[in-house]
Amino acid sequence: MDSGVINRIKTGVKGLDSMVGGGLPEGSQILFLGSPGAGKTLLSLEILYHNARLEVPSTFITSEERKDALINNIKNAFYSFDDYEDYINSKMIQINHKALIEGFKSRENFEKFISDCISDIQANKSKIAVFDSISSLRPIMEDDRTFTRSITYMTEALRDIGVTSILTYEINQSISNRDPLSIGLYSTSMFDGIIVLSMNRNEGATQYAIEVTKLRNSSHKLSSLPYQITDSGFDVLSD
Ligand SMILES: Nc1ncnc2c1ncn2[C@@H]1O[C@H](COP(=O)(O)OP(=O)(O)OP(=O)(O)O)[C@@H](O)[C@H]1O
Ligand SMILES: [Mg+2]
Repeated sequence: MDSGVINRIKTGVKGLDSMVGGGLPEGSQILFLGSPGAGKTLLSLEILYHNARLEVPSTFITSEERKDALINNIKNAFYSFDDYEDYINSKMIQINHKALIEGFKSRENFEKFISDCISDIQANKSKIAVFDSISSLRPIMEDDRTFTRSITYMTEALRDIGVTSILTYEINQSISNRDPLSIGLYSTSMFDGIIVLSMNRNEGATQYAIEVTKLRNSSHKLSSLPYQITDSGFDVLSD
């Protein structure tokens, strides 16, 4: 059971807070693992939106999409959140695009990249940070060991400043395999939580499912639940 002393960041997403035991434990580092198109980016952005409405500031660091493209995606996907851009303009949700090409030529550059991210996060006193995605770091690391070490370095830096973090990671194989090495990591112990988003094609229809694989300090649900992506956000259907 929850001891009650842990503060939780509400996701605000329909059906998700009850799934994670009331919210994401404050100061934790959470991995959003999922197949391409399963909704990792949009789910992260929706969580930031609900928190922005409660005046909880956040930073979204993207190595994937440029800021203007991302804003367009948000507008198209979350048609009902018509004030989303206002929160971006007021920096309640700070969106920063970081090109990775320069940042990874050496160890020092990686450390500088992380310290730049930390400065960004601290600039608007963010309580939540999203890094979308860590998959983009993989090709610039020589091997799984270096990748594991780099991600650990990153989660430790985030832990030091007490920010609740979401790191997205794209996987292409079936999520039934729980061996960390199958996703290129020697261990996943640097993450306090792992949430898996999967997408299955069944008789021509796409079915989405979400599962909390682990979440420290939380009595989270163990079952996988279906979800829908609608223009007013995600909807996790409870059992
Ligand atoms: N308004 C909407 N209604 C239903 N589905 C939508 C809507 N907007 C977007 N989607 C779905 O969401 C998917 C994109 O989600 P998102 O970009 O968050 O996925 P992702 O997991 O981040 O993917 P990637 O691995 O490519 O980064 C689209 O492929 C589309 O199927
Ligand atoms: Mg994405």
